Amino acid sequence: MRILGIETSCDETSAAVLSGVGNDVALESLVILSQDVHRIFGGVVPEIASRQHLTSILPVIDQALHDAGVVLTNIDAIAVTHAPGLVGALLVGVAAAKGLSLTTGIPLIGVHHLEGHLFATSLEHPDAVPPFTALLVSGGHTMLIDVPAWGRYELLGATRDDAAGEAFDKAAKLLGLPYPGGPHLERLARSGDPSRFKFTRPMLRRDQKIGDGDFYDLSFSGLKTAVMLAVRNSKNIVEDASSIARGFQDALTETLSEKVARAVRASRTRRVVLGGGVACNRALVDAVSVRVGTAVSVFAPSPRMATDNAAMIARAGLFRAERAEWARLDLPASSGVPIPGMIRR
Ligand code: KG4
Ligand code: ZN
Repeated sequence: MRILGIETSCDETSAAVLSGVGNDVALESLVILSQDVHRIFGGVVPEIASRQHLTSILPVIDQALHDAGVVLTNIDAIAVTHAPGLVGALLVGVAAAKGLSLTTGIPLIGVHHLEGHLFATSLEHPDAVPPFTALLVSGGHTMLIDVPAWGRYELLGATRDDAAGEAFDKAAKLLGLPYPGGPHLERLARSGDPSRFKFTRPMLRRDQKIGDGDFYDLSFSGLKTAVMLAVRNSKNIVEDASSIARGFQDALTETLSEKVARAVRASRTRRVVLGGGVACNRALVDAVSVRVGTAVSVFAPSPRMATDNAAMIARAGLFRAERAEWARLDLPASSGVPIPGMIRR
C-alpha cells in the first residue's frame, strides 16, 4: 500500500510518500517546510501559521509526489494529522486531504499527531517496534507510555504543567537565547559547570512507589522558576549562563531518565523509544541509555524524524489503513483528543 501523508499541526508544512506492508516500509519522499517567521515573535503565532500553511500546502504535496516519482493515481490512501494541534493550522491540512480524497476517490485516514511521533523512530531504526516503553517529549506534550503493540497505548505518566520542550524554551528565553530555545540551551550547557547550580529534581523522591500519583508523573514549572531565580540572583549572568543551563538540563534529564527506568523495570521491556523534538537532545538520550543499562536498547530519532514531519503521519496512517479505519469527509480538526487506543493505567 502507498500512503500520502500530510502534516500541518503546528509550524511545519510537510508531506511524504511511504509504501509498504506492516513494519516493512520504505519512505519514498519527505518534504518539510519550516516556518521561520515565528522566530521574530518568540513563539508560534497561530493565525500566521495557518496562513503560511495555506500558501505552502499544495506545492509541498506536489513536491513530495514528484520526489517519490509518483502521481496521485499511484496513491492508495491519504493520511492527515487531524489532532491535536492548532485548530486553524490542522484545518488547512485536513481540508487539503479531504479535497484530494473527494476529487480522486482515494480513501482518507485521520491520524493522531502523537501516534505519528510513536511511529517516527521506527522509520530509521527497524527494531524500534513494540513492545517498548515510549517517552514522548515535544513542545506541547510529555508522556511516558507503555506500548505492548501498535495501537495499544497505556499512559503511565505525563507532565502536570509545562511540557519538556516548553520548559527548555522558557529556560532558554530567561537566559536570553533565541526561539525555539532547546537546541541553543543544549549547546550553551556543554560549557557549563555541573556542580554550580544544583536544582531540585521535580517530582523525584526515593520513597515513591508504583501506584503513587507522582511515581511516573512529571512537572517542570518549578524548575523554570528555579532558573528564573538563578538568573535574577546572578551577579554576572554572562559568566553564569552556561552553568545555569547545565543545571537546568541535568535536573530535567535526570528526572526523565529515572521515570523511564522505572517504567522499563515495571513492564520488563527491552526497548525504549524516544520521540518528539526534545529527543534531539543528546544529553537526554545519553542519560536514558546510562540509566536503563546496557541490556535495554534505546532508540532515538534523528532531528528530521524527531521534529514534526509527514513521514511519521504516513507511517501511522499505513497502520490505520491496514485495519481499514477510514475517515469520513466530516473528519474534524481537533485541538485535543486522546491517542486512539490509549488507556490510563
Ligand atoms: O516535536 P516538536 O518539533 O514540536 C511539537 O510538536 O511541539 O518539538 C519542538 C520542541 C521545542 O520546544 C524545542 O525547543 C525542542 O523541541 N527541542 C529541543 C532540542 N531540539 C528541539 N529541546 C532540547 N534539546 C534539543 N536539542
Ligand atoms: Zn510534534
